[in-house]
Amino acid sequence: MLNTQQIVVNAFRAGVAIPAFNIPYLPMVEPVVRAVVDEDSFGLVMVARLEWVKFESGSPAAVRDEYLKWRNPRHVRLHMDHVPVIDEDNLQVDYLAVLREAIDLGYESLMVDASRLPLEGNIEATRKVTEMAHAAGIPCEAELGAVMGHEAGPLPPYEELFASGKGFTDPAEAKRFVRESGCDWLSVAIGSVHGAISAGLKDKKKVAARLSLDQLDRLREATGVPLVLHGGSGIRQEYVLAAFKKGIAKINIGTVARMPESW
Ligand code: 13P
Repeated sequence: MLNTQQIVVNAFRAGVAIPAFNIPYLPMVEPVVRAVVDEDSFGLVMVARLEWVKFESGSPAAVRDEYLKWRNPRHVRLHMDHVPVIDEDNLQVDYLAVLREAIDLGYESLMVDASRLPLEGNIEATRKVTEMAHAAGIPCEAELGAVMGHEAGPLPPYEELFASGKGFTDPAEAKRFVRESGCDWLSVAIGSVHGAISAGLKDKKKVAARLSLDQLDRLREATGVPLVLHGGSGIRQEYVLAAFKKGIAKINIGTVARMPESW
C-alpha cells in the first residue's frame, strides 16, 4: 500500500488534490471517514493544535484513538495539521515536543507552522521538524507567507488584501525555503484565508476568497513540490478547480464542516 507521501505526490502529478478534514470535535471523525469511503475517494483526517486548545478535540492522543476506531487506510490517513512555533495569540509553543508526540502516536504526516517567524527562523525550525519526520519515515508540510484568519480581531477588507498581495508567498523565497528546509509539501499564501476562530467572529460567514493563479504558477515553477491550500472552505469553485491543475495537491477544510449552517 502507498504511503501518504506517495499518495500526495501522485495527486500532484495527476493535477488533483487530496482533501484534508479538520477535527475540532471527536464525533466528527466517523462521518468524515464515512463520506470519504462512500465517495470511494481518499482523504486525510487531521487536527491542528488550536483544535485541542480552543475547540473540543481533546488531545492528539484522543484524535488518534478515535481515528483508530474507524481506521481504513485504503481511504483515510491521519495528519497533524498546524503546530505553530508562535501561535495565533503570539505565544511561543514547544512545537518539537508536540510533533515528537504526534510521531510517537502514529500520525502519518505532520505540519510545522513557523510562518510567523522571519524567513531564516522559519527555515531553521522547519528543517528540525523535517529531519525528525524523515527519520520516522513520514513527510513534513510547512508554511511560507501569511494565510490569515486565525488571529484575533477582524481581517482587513478582503478585496484590499487580495489586490495588495500582502502576505502572499514570494516565489524566490519559496525556492530557497524548500531547498534549505527540506520540507515535502508547502502551504502557500495566494489569496485564501482561514475561517475565523476568535470569539465574536467565529460564527460569521466566511468570505468567498479568490486565488492568484499567476502567483501559483510561479510558486509551482520555483519549488517543484506539492503545494497545499489552507483556508479551503468557501473559496470560489472555479479558482479551486484551476488550482488543482496548477500544483495544489492537498486542500485543508475546516470551517465548512464545523459550521455548515452558515453555508
Ligand atoms: P478553513 O477552516 O477555512 O476551511 O481552513 C482550514 C485550514 O486551513 C486548516 O489548516
